[in-house]
Amino acid sequence: MKLWGGRFTKETNQLVHNFNASLSFDQKFFKQDIEGSIAHVTMLAKQGIISEEEKDLIISGLSGIMEDIINGSLIIDEEHEDIHSFVEAHLIERIGDPGKKLHTGRSRNDQVALDMKLYIRDEISEIDELVKNLLITLHRIMKENTQTFMPGFTHLQKAQPVTLAHHFGAYFEMFKRDRSRLSDISKRMNLSPLGSGALAGTTYPLDRNLTAELLGFDGPTLNSMDSVSDRDYLIELLSALSTIMMHLSRFSEEIIIWNSNEYRFVELDDAYSTGSSIMPQKKNPDIAELVRGKTGRVYGALVSILTTMKGLPLAYNKDMQEDKELTFDAIDTVKGCLALFNGMVATMKFQKNYMENSAKNGFTNATDAADYLVNKGVPFRDAHGIVGQLVLYCIEKDIALEEMSLEEFKNISPVFEQDIYDAISMETCVNKRNTIGAPGVEAMKQVIQINEEYLKA
Ligand code: ARG
Repeated sequence: MKLWGGRFTKETNQLVHNFNASLSFDQKFFKQDIEGSIAHVTMLAKQGIISEEEKDLIISGLSGIMEDIINGSLIIDEEHEDIHSFVEAHLIERIGDPGKKLHTGRSRNDQVALDMKLYIRDEISEIDELVKNLLITLHRIMKENTQTFMPGFTHLQKAQPVTLAHHFGAYFEMFKRDRSRLSDISKRMNLSPLGSGALAGTTYPLDRNLTAELLGFDGPTLNSMDSVSDRDYLIELLSALSTIMMHLSRFSEEIIIWNSNEYRFVELDDAYSTGSSIMPQKKNPDIAELVRGKTGRVYGALVSILTTMKGLPLAYNKDMQEDKELTFDAIDTVKGCLALFNGMVATMKFQKNYMENSAKNGFTNATDAADYLVNKGVPFRDAHGIVGQLVLYCIEKDIALEEMSLEEFKNISPVFEQDIYDAISMETCVNKRNTIGAPGVEAMKQVIQINEEYLKA
């Protein structure tokens, strides 16, 4: 049953077996393991290392194992050490001696490096698809809300008016960068380690270019020691996933704030919120809170693998088996969070009146009042001081700037005329800001058009 019993005189201690085994988690890539083996024997036969008949027998045996695992008739039991041992043992059981040739010119070190890369490559495209779906939702909301005014914040203090389209556009850019990070990783990692052997290649005339091609890689890796001990792509992936989670977490935090009784900018759909067992009035943003909370878990995986790798001498060391569980958990976490977050955002209602009132009641047009004075020839620093006085006056009277009478304006500075009201209206404040990237409706429309092309590509 073991792949390596020959030089041992005693049975493995059961606890050692349990501690050492990885089958409970590496069975996740049984398909990739079998696909890799099929490519390997195809190449072995082509190179004359095994016969055509042996190759055909092995491939049909492997395909049968794959089918049976999928249809549930072959259960992956825990007595084997890992998925590689499991598949090989079952192959030999099914086809006899030819099965013993499967592992010719191969080590579990290059095999596991291959399996993990194949698995991760598929997962990256699934994650990318989920991020893209979220972008499609954001894009729709942006198109619908180029004139939905709301306060923009700095220090969580109302700063200047923006629009909902502009605010969501910020997240659109973040998730766009996330996708570009994923695509960089896919490109960089797409070299095949198969054929690197344990660490020093093999004496067989393997065609590494052929297996690389059969498995959809851009080519073989160029150093066999590096091939079996490189986990950079997992570190890069966990870093990219951590960044996705950081973005989701910031967005979640905003949704939690916006959904609070004090803000009421949004109302979460009933299907995406939860209640309290004691307080009947409660409707809680648990999904957003959980996404925010799960961010720590993904960061943990990144720090864990960085720490695992930091002291490892070349080449393969068993420590590297620790690359799997946390990576799998991080991937599942991110996929779950992306899907739920998308559903939550897609169904939530925007309370535009609350957003707009909030923008009106926080002096978010103060900068524009100062700019008004500058346009009438007042130096900016003086204008800043004058508007400061206006704000102080309004705070005392508990009114907004635009609620002051012209006389009151003129009492503070004679430069003010009737056109001040138009200059500090919400529409003017937002729509005058039309440099690319700004919230003005013209600038926003350009960006939305660019995003539209991006989503189509
Ligand atoms: N389960 C092992 C891992 O995940 C497979 C490679 C084992 N290689 C070895 N030399 N023990 O890393």
